[in-house]
Amino acid sequence: MAQSQALQVRPLTRRIGAEIEGVDLASPLSNRQSEEVRQALLDHQVIFFRDQPRLDHAAHKRFGRLFGELAIHSGVVGIGGHPEIVAIHADASSKFVAGEDWHSDLTADACPPMGSILYLHTVPETGGDTLFASMSAAYDALSEKMKAYLEEMVATHDADHVYRPLFPDLDRKYPCNDHPVVRTHPVTGKKSLFVNRSYVTRIKGVSEAESSAILAYLYAHCANPNFQVRFRWTPHAVAFWDNRCTQHMATWDYFPETRSGFRVTVAGDRPF
Ligand code: SIN
Repeated sequence: MAQSQALQVRPLTRRIGAEIEGVDLASPLSNRQSEEVRQALLDHQVIFFRDQPRLDHAAHKRFGRLFGELAIHSGVVGIGGHPEIVAIHADASSKFVAGEDWHSDLTADACPPMGSILYLHTVPETGGDTLFASMSAAYDALSEKMKAYLEEMVATHDADHVYRPLFPDLDRKYPCNDHPVVRTHPVTGKKSLFVNRSYVTRIKGVSEAESSAILAYLYAHCANPNFQVRFRWTPHAVAFWDNRCTQHMATWDYFPETRSGFRVTVAGDRPF
C-alpha cells in the first residue's frame, strides 16, 4: 500500500540542499509523495533522506525508476545481478575512492544522467562527507560579460583519462562528447555552468592557453563555499542529486575506516 503522509522539506542552505522527512523509500510512494520529492529536487538540487535501513537493491531501483529509466554506468561495471547499481565502497585496502574531485556524474556520456541516488549503509565514525555545489548559483554569480563570453561555448568531456588509469586491464571504449559550457535545465529553464575538473579536457574554438585559463577561473569560481552544502552522512542515509545543475565531491579523510553503499543513476537528456 502506498504511504499517505505529507513530506517535510527542511532546507539546509538558501541555495542548495534540503533534508526530507516523513517518507520510507523502501515502501511504494503515493503519487503525491513522488511529486513532492520531484519538486523538492527541483527546488533544492540535492535532497537527503536519513534512516532508510530497508532500502535493498529492488527498493533502490524502484525509487529511482519513479524519476525515469535507470542508466547503466559507462565507466564502472555494476554489481552482480543488478547492472544498474554500482558499489561505492572504501576500506583499509582501497587505493582510491570514487568522486574525489569536483564533478557531475558521467558528463562524457552523450546524455549524462539527470540524477544519482546514493545510499550508504556503512559510514565512518567521522568524516566521509559529500560536498555538493549549485552550478546555477555559480552561473548566476558570473558577471554579465563573462556570461556573454561563455554563451555559445562548447567543452569536450572525455571519460578515458578518468577510468582507464583506474582499470588498466579492462579493454573498454569510454565515451567522449561535446557539451555546452552553459546548459539550460530542461524542467526549470535555469542556466547553469556545465564544466567539471574530472571529465572536461578543453573548451573548443579557443587556444589551449585560453581554454586552460578560462577553465581554471571557472573551477575556482564554482568552488566558492557560498554555492555549497556539505552532507554529514549517517548510516542508511540517501542523497539524491540533480546532476544537471550540481557538482559534487566525496571526501576521503577516514582511511582506513569503511564507507560503503550503492548508487543508481537516472537517465538524462542531451544537454542544451
Ligand atoms: C560519487 O561521485 O557518486 C560518490 C559520492 C560519494 O561517495 O559521496
